[in-house]
Amino acid sequence: MAHSASVPSPGEVVLRDVTEDDLPLFFGHQQDPDATRMAAFPARSRDAFMAHWARILDDETVVNKTILFDGQVAGSILSFEQSGEREVGYWIGREFWGRGVATKALSGFLAHARQRPLYAHVAGHNVASVRVLEKCGFVVFDKEREFSSVHGKEIGWLILKLEA
Ligand SMILES: CC(C)(COP(=O)(O)OP(=O)(O)OC[C@H]1O[C@@H](n2cnc3c(N)ncnc32)[C@H](O)[C@@H]1OP(=O)(O)O)[C@@H](O)C(=O)NCCC(=O)NCCS
Repeated sequence: MAHSASVPSPGEVVLRDVTEDDLPLFFGHQQDPDATRMAAFPARSRDAFMAHWARILDDETVVNKTILFDGQVAGSILSFEQSGEREVGYWIGREFWGRGVATKALSGFLAHARQRPLYAHVAGHNVASVRVLEKCGFVVFDKEREFSSVHGKEIGWLILKLEA
């Protein structure tokens, strides 16, 4: 895991600052229906997505990074304040799934974004994301049920916490 590199090594995951050129790629990633079902988070329209990212890039309390895999934009990872707690979130483009990208990205992000505790809200059925978080030291802290517009019904959510 590295934070910058001019020539990536094979399989290397690098975090760098988000640029506006990344946004159309992030937009494509969040449109995948399997991804939205996993995350239980509905895809935004292009306008809503770009407005959402403009707010993120303008907000100094948000820590956000682009994830590069072998030099390609593979996704994004960020932390933000919600109800007085710091949350982490990430999204990997489908073509990069299952290659350890999320695990390496979260692990690198945690070394960079040192605020603790850190929380993550994950749909209970999102086994891959729970696994990513647990491998990086998060533990299940609480559970809740909430309506998901993607699933059209109430689903179970896990709240995971990283203490140190
Ligand atoms: C969830 C997500 C981040 C996983 O990214 P990834 O780069 O494929 O994850 P990794 O390759 O680091 O794999 C992490 C672990 O999950 C497992 N895993 C991956 N896909 C899986 C799946 N579909 N079902 C079960 N386990 C899975 C891997 O085997 C690995 O565990 P292991 O090391 O014990 O073998 C990615 O699929 C994604 O972005 N999905 C859409 C958005 C989303 O869900 N974001 C998170 C919201 S909380």
